[in-house]
Amino acid sequence: MGSMEGLKAESNGDAQAMNGGGDIMMMTRRGKTSGSSAFPLEVGTKVMCRWRDQKMHPVKVIERRKIPYGGAGDYEYYVHYTEFNRRLDEWVKLEQLDLDTMETELDEKVDDKATSLKMTRHQKRKIDETHVEAGHEELDAASLREHEEFTKVKNIAKIELGRYEIDTWYFSPFPSEYNDTPKLFFCEFCLSFMKHKEQLQRHMRKCDLKHPPGDEIYRCGTLSMFEVDGKKNKVYGQNLCYLAKLFLDHKTLYYDVDLFLFYVLCECDDRGCHMVGYFSKEKHSEESYNLACILTLPPYQRKGYGKFLIAFSYELSKKEGKVGTPERPLSDLGLLSYRGYWTRVLLEILKKQKGNISIKELSDMTAIKTDDILSTLQALDLIQYRKGQHVICADPKILDRHLKAAGRGGLEVDVSKLIWTPYKDQG
Ligand code: ACO
Ligand code: ZN
Repeated sequence: MGSMEGLKAESNGDAQAMNGGGDIMMMTRRGKTSGSSAFPLEVGTKVMCRWRDQKMHPVKVIERRKIPYGGAGDYEYYVHYTEFNRRLDEWVKLEQLDLDTMETELDEKVDDKATSLKMTRHQKRKIDETHVEAGHEELDAASLREHEEFTKVKNIAKIELGRYEIDTWYFSPFPSEYNDTPKLFFCEFCLSFMKHKEQLQRHMRKCDLKHPPGDEIYRCGTLSMFEVDGKKNKVYGQNLCYLAKLFLDHKTLYYDVDLFLFYVLCECDDRGCHMVGYFSKEKHSEESYNLACILTLPPYQRKGYGKFLIAFSYELSKKEGKVGTPERPLSDLGLLSYRGYWTRVLLEILKKQKGNISIKELSDMTAIKTDDILSTLQALDLIQYRKGQHVICADPKILDRHLKAAGRGGLEVDVSKLIWTPYKDQG
């Protein structure tokens, strides 16, 4: 299950009316169309397209729109590169397409009002919860089509946050008045969002936050972690979810932020504490989830912050005396980061370990759930099932080879700098 803490309509500082969950009209139709090279191209057309690497790649046309002030037949096309993740979907011009490679079989089309389907909130949740990135194994074809239909075109192309302009990756259900805004401007401290730079400038003159609201629970050098209670800071929690959804594909947005804590990692300087990334955590999880959503903002990615956030989530679990696991599904990048973290932590222990060690003992030492330990060791071919028992193979040379392949360790969490007690309901 993948949840994105709730964005039910409330107020958002500068962003007033939230729609966060009104029913959404969605139209789907399956069918085949015999080929015709008439323009504009049909939604569903498959064709080769020149990408930013200047090479041709196969794409599928997801949507089309008239070019503002263009001629009657001038369209641009929203395409999905079939070899790549949906975050690379984009609007392209006709001249980027090689029309000689066009395949005219259409398997999906979206213009048939007669078969339009009004989705309930529950249906939308179901779609997001079951949608899996790699292979989409857990999702039936109809649900997958519905999810992709509902979120098919990015509604916000760019955001400005602090000193960064960032291209977005996915659709996020901002209130409708923000849809198709070329760029949204976020206050980097309270995360209010606005359509115009001047609004942001006015806001910055009166916003008195210089760090996320909530308690600073960790500080080490210039890095600080803040714990934000979604119940006490509802608008901040909602704004964070809207922002995060721009970079998270398969997350639902219909739970209540009240039920979550947000751990916001910042790099601090004399201007304030600048958000680098965050993870969210349910206050009470029946499924022993110790992390719901994790994000490193794109300008900060591949610097070890993701592994830091993951390590931090396990340090919290250790303090709680519980094992934990991230909420599913994991994204492609989420799985890579978790696999890297699990591999490094487990293999470092196995390397130092003299005698035998059981999966349970590994779990007790690391707070990693036994299923995740098993799947990690299995993927590395380090485990065998003999006489009803799992036996770990720990040849030092093999461990070293895997450790090398697992990449860098990331930024270390200095546990002595973590000042935190587990969440307790205050009635
Ligand atoms: N290409 C290839 N490998 C990658 C990439 C990439 N673009 N990004 C991360 N990795 C792998 C690498 O193995 C990397 O280790 P290395 O740099 O030592 O080789 C490892 O993942 C983690 O790297 P970090 O620098 O520690 O992680 P980062 O700060 O980039 O954050 C994260 C990882 C949080 C997954 C980030 O990519 C992100 O925010 N993605 C968008 C949101 C997302 O998908 N979140 C996970 C959803 S699942 C869930 O929330 C439970
Ligand atoms: Zn602000």
